[in-house]
Amino acid sequence: MHIVKYLRPIWRGCSMVLLLATLTCSTVWAQGAAPAASGGGDAAAGEALFKNNCAACHAASDEVVVGPGLKGVMTRVPNKDWVYKWVKNSSAVIASGDAYGNQIFNKYNKLQMQSFPDLQNADIDNILAYVESAATAAPTADQAKADGQGGATAAPAESGLSTQYFTIILVALLVVLALVLLVLIMIISLLTKFLSNRKDLSDEDRELLEQRTDIGKVLQSAVVKGAVLIIAVLLLGKIGLDSVMRIGIAQGYAPKQPISYSHKLHAGEYKINCAYCHTSVYKGKNASIPSANICMNCHSVIKNSSPEIKKLYTAIENNQPIEWIRVHNLPDHAYFNHSQHTNVGGLACQNCHGDIEKMEVVEQVAPLTMGWCIDCHRKTEVNTKGNAYYDKLVAIHASKEPMKVATIGGIECSKCHY
Ligand code: HEC
Ligand code: HEC
Ligand code: HEC
Ligand code: HEC
Ligand code: HEC
Ligand code: HEC
Repeated sequence: MHIVKYLRPIWRGCSMVLLLATLTCSTVWAQGAAPAASGGGDAAAGEALFKNNCAACHAASDEVVVGPGLKGVMTRVPNKDWVYKWVKNSSAVIASGDAYGNQIFNKYNKLQMQSFPDLQNADIDNILAYVESAATAAPTADQAKADGQGGATAAPAESGLSTQYFTIILVALLVVLALVLLVLIMIISLLTKFLSNRKDLSDEDRELLEQRTDIGKVLQSAVVKGAVLIIAVLLLGKIGLDSVMRIGIAQGYAPKQPISYSHKLHAGEYKINCAYCHTSVYKGKNASIPSANICMNCHSVIKNSSPEIKKLYTAIENNQPIEWIRVHNLPDHAYFNHSQHTNVGGLACQNCHGDIEKMEVVEQVAPLTMGWCIDCHRKTEVNTKGNAYYDKLVAIHASKEPMKVATIGGIECSKCHY
């Protein structure tokens, strides 16, 4: 009586269902995680491409960064072919006399969009799919901050929708698989109970039966191990990808300094002027960090027995500078000048550094990305008060819109990049 043999196909069935469920799970998840995932993960692939190539100049919303926000772009441009040509080489499109190309080129102050000759049409499709799905998705906290408005929805493109359907189908499949698995497990447990009560079972069959119902053994099976491996790889991939996206952005960085110097105390409570210590902030490119001698103007008498102040004395006696840890740091290829902003522009430090006078430890408040610089240049009107140099410019612009930093060249690449 080899009735146990009939259990085999059911066990196999269970394994298959488990495997399928794992794969489906992975695909659903990979849609939002690893861009290289197979299947129709086009929006996910597009997101990575967009962030690496386009996000420096474009938002997926309708917010203008350097170039126009790409939300609803397919409703503006002539057709998809135009987008392919434009992304690969926009200057060629403009040079060909293309009407729409010239129109936006002029609208954006003749800013040259970078060329991407290496992008394939499929890549560009993926980017467009991502842009549409980002525009139709409910706005995240970040997006809401960026475009300040709710999830007003443009007519969704097919590609954006098709990824949504794909996800829905996969999730439905997952539910069905889970139900099938449940039913199979119920059959197995019923059969097992029934069989183990039978007297005419051979020893061989009984052993097989126990083996297959032992949870420990099942957990060690290849199917379960494979599933765990797939999930682990995906998890690591997602973590890796997320951290790569943030490389170079140090917003919120607030290192502990060698002396517990407090801006809250000095600049806040005692109202010491920023330029008393950051001596060149109105005159030069760099704001400068004060030397211990500046501190000594006061601390030669104030609190000079405090252990923190003793560190100042030690530094001066050993003729060694205090090793303050740098908080803000732009990459070398970007040029930023303080006097241009604080003196000529008349901007308060707090615009870019936040409420330093309330900080116990200095923290980088602004993202210091290119989009951040450009965004302010687009929004801020040039401060022309008492500046003879600007008088002529103002006269020229008097009849037109308000003179923004962007109008006087504040978004030309060469102003910020050597
Ligand atoms: C260096 C900045 C920059 C980068 C990077 C950039 N663009 Fe642009 N893009 C622009 C500017 C500026 C315009 C406006 C037209 C002009 O001035 O040339 C524009 C226009 C466009 C337009 C037309 C938009 C409309 O509303 O008609 C599309 C589409 C576009 N870009 C796609 C892309 C894609 C896709 C990428 C990434 C692969 C990308 N751009 C990367 C600067 C950039
Ligand atoms: C009594 C001297 C003193 C005064 C006054 C002062 N600072 Fe500072 N500041 C320092 C010192 C010392 C550091 C370096 C240690 C640190 O980061 O806390 C520093 C660091 C900074 C940094 C971070 C520099 C970096 O590494 O990126 C900023 C930004 C800054 N100060 C802005 C201000 C502003 C704005 C004010 C006025 C509201 C001000 N400071 C007033 C002494 C001063
Ligand atoms: C214009 C005067 C002035 C200057 C310049 C000045 N401080 Fe102070 N500092 C003070 C005063 C006032 C106090 C508060 C003393 C108290 O709590 O009684 C203080 C307190 C401190 C304390 C806290 C000491 C403790 O143990 O409570 C530290 C640390 C300190 N300062 C560091 C510095 C450093 C570093 C510099 C130079 C970058 C500096 N100060 C420059 C006036 C100054
Ligand atoms: C328009 C934005 C902006 C304004 C306004 C501004 N800063 Fe900065 N600040 C920056 C940036 C960007 C950096 C990083 C510069 C770099 O890494 O080259 C920086 C760096 C610094 C540093 C570090 C040392 C250095 O020079 O790199 C100090 C100190 C500082 N700022 C103080 C000030 C003070 C004090 C004021 C006001 C009088 C001020 N800043 C106004 C953007 C600004
Ligand atoms: C808070 C607003 C603000 C931010 C943020 C800002 N800027 Fe500016 N920037 C200005 C203003 C205002 C001027 C105009 C100064 C003047 O009157 O000439 C200016 C002018 C400039 C100019 C000279 C432009 C010209 O045509 O002469 C350069 C270069 C520049 N900024 C670089 C940067 C860089 C790099 C960053 C980012 C690290 C940055 N700015 C961030 C407000 C800002
Ligand atoms: C107002 C100043 C400013 C202007 C104008 C500007 N950039 Fe940038 N750019 C920056 C800053 C600051 C960074 C560094 C950002 C960072 O570290 O995240 C940067 C970074 C970059 C990078 C490195 C990639 C990245 O996102 O970090 C490229 C490429 C670039 N800029 C190209 C351009 C081109 C092309 C133009 C002209 C359309 C341009 N930039 C105009 C300030 C500017």
